[in-house]
Amino acid sequence: MGAQRIAIFDTTLRDGEQSPGCSMNLEEKLQMARQLEALQVDVIEAGFPVASDDDFAAVQAIARECRGPVIAALCRAIPRDIERAWEALKEAEHPRIHTFLATSDIHLSYKLQKTREEALQMIREGVALAKSFTPDVEFSAEDATRSDWDFLVEVCKVALEAGATVLNIPDTVGYTVPDEYGRLITHLRMNVPGIDQATISVHCHNDLGLAAANSLAAVMAGARQVECTINGIGERAGNAALEEVVMALSVRRDALPFETGVRRELLYRASQALANITGSEVQANKAIVGRNAFAHESGIHQHGMLSHHSTYEIMTPESVGVRRSSLVLGKHSGRHALAKRFEELGYNLDRVGLDKAYKLFTKLSDQKKEIFDEDLLAIVQDGLTHIPEVYKLRALQATAGTAMFATALVTLASEAGDATETAMGDGPVNAVFAAVDKLTGLSGRLLDYRLHSVSRGADAVGEVFVQVDFDGQPHGGKGASTDVVEASLRAYLNAVNKALFARRAKKSQAVEAGV
Ligand code: KIV
Ligand code: ZN
Repeated sequence: MGAQRIAIFDTTLRDGEQSPGCSMNLEEKLQMARQLEALQVDVIEAGFPVASDDDFAAVQAIARECRGPVIAALCRAIPRDIERAWEALKEAEHPRIHTFLATSDIHLSYKLQKTREEALQMIREGVALAKSFTPDVEFSAEDATRSDWDFLVEVCKVALEAGATVLNIPDTVGYTVPDEYGRLITHLRMNVPGIDQATISVHCHNDLGLAAANSLAAVMAGARQVECTINGIGERAGNAALEEVVMALSVRRDALPFETGVRRELLYRASQALANITGSEVQANKAIVGRNAFAHESGIHQHGMLSHHSTYEIMTPESVGVRRSSLVLGKHSGRHALAKRFEELGYNLDRVGLDKAYKLFTKLSDQKKEIFDEDLLAIVQDGLTHIPEVYKLRALQATAGTAMFATALVTLASEAGDATETAMGDGPVNAVFAAVDKLTGLSGRLLDYRLHSVSRGADAVGEVFVQVDFDGQPHGGKGASTDVVEASLRAYLNAVNKALFARRAKKSQAVEAGV
């Protein structure tokens, strides 16, 4: 008999996106959804439609575009939420309504002020309403691991009777431990009649660093769906990391006789894409996808690796899409070599995409001798973002020093032609931003600024991520260059262009709605 299949339910775009610094706009969510589709996850949870119009639009766009995975939308077990979720989902090839209600006494009394009986009633009605829209309905008992086990049995019975096809048992606050979680799943399997007709799902948060371990313990006890996020992003300490769960199931098939449908060789690419989109860098020692995950520093380890890689490696970097030597291309590499490397990284660029990427590549190779995979991933992410560039950088000059004010001279191109402004500031970055504000007529308030090096070497590309408030709305922007002042300016301009794009989209929505 073959290994049993575990469904991978990705919630990067919903639970992941809820974490600080990880918010994405519609275009960015679509980009990430395409990564997840290519990765062949089983379910993409696209958002929480009732939460905002932007969330609704993102779920709707993903439902319309993505083919293959089930597209899920989250909603509380209340009619307005469920109807809104269905409205957003209804054009999906495989839609799933994911409705939830808290079941622990702590949540029932402090958050919801509901009795257990009232909760059961809401679950019955909520699941039945969802079922009237689509056959694929998931019910989540929020804070299940701190709920009374016998009450949880009642909850599962009611959800099943009302038509739930997936029962999710979340460890909402990352409180459980592997043995206990496994026993909880077993308890439900033993005591809920007909539970084997449904898929048992698990959803673990990482407050004690046990999210992946707890998920695997639940799988051993009979769960057949794992909810997780790329890079483990999510509320507080995050969710179970998809790459950890998938690779544990793959590397330890002997101990965990299960398989997933995920294309492991695209894991690194998906991780980098998310880091690029959100500006939230992956910690260097992060399992599977961190910069150091396959680095061998000590002499003994290096000697062992030279003798045979199995001495200190339990999986090859290539198996998750990381090249052993990631030095790939240089100044004289042609379009062919670039297209081929992008293909190996999982991007089949069309002519227009390749033209754009090649332009960025040649520009970068003028600034930098060695181009690494990380550089190429940054290029392709930037190149594929379809935010119209209302303002483009033409020229920049900035001066700064210990005994002087920083000054900047910036020239931007727009439909109206080229324009130049100068400004002073506390430092060169501040001066550059002030010059851009003068040129665009927008007044940005910087909420967040992050700088990191994308790759290695003294000429490494610096990537800047900013979050800027324009008209009370935060907009993320990122830019890369070997010059950090230029990278900062590009990031700020990216945020300006996004703000203008959002403004225009709002205006046309209002016109469409006849407002
Ligand atoms: O953590 C949690 O309980 C959740 C549910 C809404 C599934 O995210
Ligand atoms: Zn969660």
